[in-house]
Amino acid sequence: MEKILAYLEENKDRYLAELKSLLAIPSVSTHKENVDDVRRCANWVADHMRTIGLQNVQIFPTAGHPVAYSEWLNAPGKPTVLLYGHYDVQPAEPLELWTSPPFEATIRGENLYARGSADDKGQVFIHLKSIEAYLKIMGSLPVNLKLLIEGEEEIGSENLETFVKEHKDLLKADLVLISDSSMFAKGVPSICYSLRGLSYMQIDLVGPGKDLHSGSFGGSVHNPIQALSEIIAQLHDKNGRVTIPGFYNDVRPLSKKERAAFKKLPWSDKKYAKELGVKQLYGEKGFTSLERVWARPTLECNGIWGGFTGEGAKTVLPSKASAKISMRLVPDQKSAKAAQLFEKYIKKIAPKTVSVTVRNLHGGEAAITPIDSPGVRAAVAALEKGFKKKPLYQREGGSIPIVVQFKQLLGLDTVLLGFGLPDENAHAPDEFINLDNFFGGIRTSVHFFNELPNFMNGHKRKK
Ligand code: BES
Ligand code: MN
Ligand code: MN
Repeated sequence: MEKILAYLEENKDRYLAELKSLLAIPSVSTHKENVDDVRRCANWVADHMRTIGLQNVQIFPTAGHPVAYSEWLNAPGKPTVLLYGHYDVQPAEPLELWTSPPFEATIRGENLYARGSADDKGQVFIHLKSIEAYLKIMGSLPVNLKLLIEGEEEIGSENLETFVKEHKDLLKADLVLISDSSMFAKGVPSICYSLRGLSYMQIDLVGPGKDLHSGSFGGSVHNPIQALSEIIAQLHDKNGRVTIPGFYNDVRPLSKKERAAFKKLPWSDKKYAKELGVKQLYGEKGFTSLERVWARPTLECNGIWGGFTGEGAKTVLPSKASAKISMRLVPDQKSAKAAQLFEKYIKKIAPKTVSVTVRNLHGGEAAITPIDSPGVRAAVAALEKGFKKKPLYQREGGSIPIVVQFKQLLGLDTVLLGFGLPDENAHAPDEFINLDNFFGGIRTSVHFFNELPNFMNGHKRKK
C-alpha cells in the first residue's frame, strides 16, 4: 500500500497533464456538431484503458454515442466491481462567462477548471489512475473490474438501457461503483444513498398563424407568451407545492429518523443563500432546504422563449411560445406517470385561445440504495483512509438514470462515491474539480479496491 501511495505522489504532475488532454476534447453529447469529438473521446478513454493495463478493451457502438468498455478479471474468487461513469459533457455555453476557456483545463488556486472536470471525466479519471497505480506497483488488482464508460449520460442514457439489456452476461458483477456526485462539503467526504428521478418536458404554444403587429392586433388576440406565462404561473401554489393533480400521490414520505439525520448535518440556510446569491430561499412549505432538494419532488422551468429578444425594441405579437420544464422525482414516483399527469394538466389549464403540444423529452427513475451493504462499508473505510475523515451519509437532488436499471436488469446495488463539491459549477461556466478531492479520490479508490474483499466475504455473487 505504501508503495502505491508513493507512486501516486511521484506521478501527480503527469496525472494532471493527462487529465488536461482528456478535458480538451469537447465531447458534448447533445450537440450534433460534436459527434466526432464524442467518438474521439470514447477512443481516448479506450486507449487510456489499454495503456494502464486493462484488458478486453472495446468500443461498442450504440444507436447514439459509443460505450467504452474494458475489464480486468484475473482475481478468481474475489468480488467483481462494475465501474460506471460518463465521458460526455454538457454544453459549455455561454462561453463568455468562463474565466478560462472551457476545453483548456486551467489550474487556479486549488482547483482545476474545465467543462467535465468534475462531471464526470475528472471522476472517471480518478479511478483510471488508481487502477494504473495498483497494476504498476502490484502487477495485479485485489478485485475483478469491469469498466463501462458511456457517452450519453447528459442526454438521458437512452441507448445505454438497451446496451445493458443486450450485455447482461458481459456486465455480471457483484456491485456497481459510480463517482459522479459530490461530497457534502469541502473536507467533508460523504456516501450518497439516493438520487432523484426526472421527467423532462417541452410545451409549445401556437396562437396566430404568423407574427402580428402588436399595435394592429394587440387586444384582439391572446399573446402565446402571456398564455404560456399564465400556464407556468399556475404550476405552483402559494406554498411552493406543485399543483398537478396526483403529483404527490406516490411520494415516499420521509421517516422521522431520516429527517432527524438530515437535521444533524452541518448546514446553514443563511450561508447557502449567500453562496447562491439569492435574497431569500424558496421551496415547498413544511420542509427544510435539504429535504426539499434531496427527498421532495419539484418542478422547474429550465428555459422559456418566444417573440423578440434581440437588442432594442420591436413591437410584435408573436405566433409561438415554448418552455422546457422538468420535474425532479423521488421514490416511489414513476417518470412516465409524472409525464402523463403533467400533460393532462397542461392540456386542461391551457386557454382555448392557443393550441398546445406537450412532449416528453426524456426521463429517469429515482434511486435509493442500501447504506449497510458490504460495498458501502468498504467505501466508508476507504474514504476514512483517503480523506482522513469519517464520511457522512447524504442524498442528492441530481439524477443518474442508469442506477435503477442496474438494479432492475442486473440485480446490482450501486455505491455512490462522489468526489465533486456542491459549488463545483457543474453544467455551468467555470466548472472545476478541487485538486485535493482529485488526489484524495485516487487514494480512496485504491483503498476501496483494497478493502472490498474484506467486506465481501461470505457475499457470493448471485447466479
Ligand atoms: N452527475 C450528474 C448527476 C448528479 C448531479 C448527481 C448532482 C448528484 C448530484 C449527471 O451528470 C447529471 O447531470 N444528470 C442529469 C440527468 C439527466 C440528463 C437525465 C441531471 O441530473 O440533470
Ligand atoms: Mn455526471
Ligand atoms: Mn451532468
